[in-house]
Amino acid sequence: MSKTSSIRCLITAGPTREFFDPVRFISNPSTGKMGYALAQAALDQGWSVDLVSGPVCLQEPDGAILYPVVSAEEMFHQVDALFDVCDVFIMSAAVSDFKPLEYTSKKVKKAEVDKSVLMAQTIDILKTIAERKQTQFIVGFAAETENLEVHAKAKLESKSCDWIVANKIGQEGLGFGSDNNVVSIFRRDGTDATHGPASKVALGKLIIDLINKVITE
Ligand code: CTP
Repeated sequence: MSKTSSIRCLITAGPTREFFDPVRFISNPSTGKMGYALAQAALDQGWSVDLVSGPVCLQEPDGAILYPVVSAEEMFHQVDALFDVCDVFIMSAAVSDFKPLEYTSKKVKKAEVDKSVLMAQTIDILKTIAERKQTQFIVGFAAETENLEVHAKAKLESKSCDWIVANKIGQEGLGFGSDNNVVSIFRRDGTDATHGPASKVALGKLIIDLINKVITE
């Protein structure tokens, strides 16, 4: 078996939802398109793929093992269970940074909802998991509205990643929800490169090709 065909890749995709009652939650506009494009590209490369996905409306990539999750905590436990056996870990999910402090199992009547909902931070999945990195190649993402390079390089360090794939959000027709994106890849050796505008499918293929080159060279 060639090295490429024995590579096991763990990918997270989509948003997480943090419910405060059965019908209301905190989340973000992620549709999972980038993560699913990466999963498809990894399968096309001959890798085996564990896809941990938040709630999305996308067709499951044929051949991936899909682990559906809802909250950041569920995503963390699933990643925690799969990380040690992966060769490549790509954390492309848009994890909700905040969760309501309390969950009420009955729908809260709106007249009774406090005007402010108390929040706690969710676990930083990437940072926590990457701390136990052994030989895995770890790719994090970064979504920024400003100072892309500064924030991406800070995340490269703080989250112990080999690469950070960063994109600027708030640009018409790119990023969250759209089919296209522009991404900048920041590496530990200090180099970076920008790719796109291109479809997320094309960017997914490009990112997997680039990772494949690094890990098989
Ligand atoms: N991430 C994570 N767990 C979280 C939040 C983020 O694993 N609770 C991961 C994302 O999947 C991404 C990377 O961390 O790979 C950076 O996410 P981003 O939202 O850009 O940054 P944050 O760490 O949330 O920091 P900030 O919101 O301050 O930019």
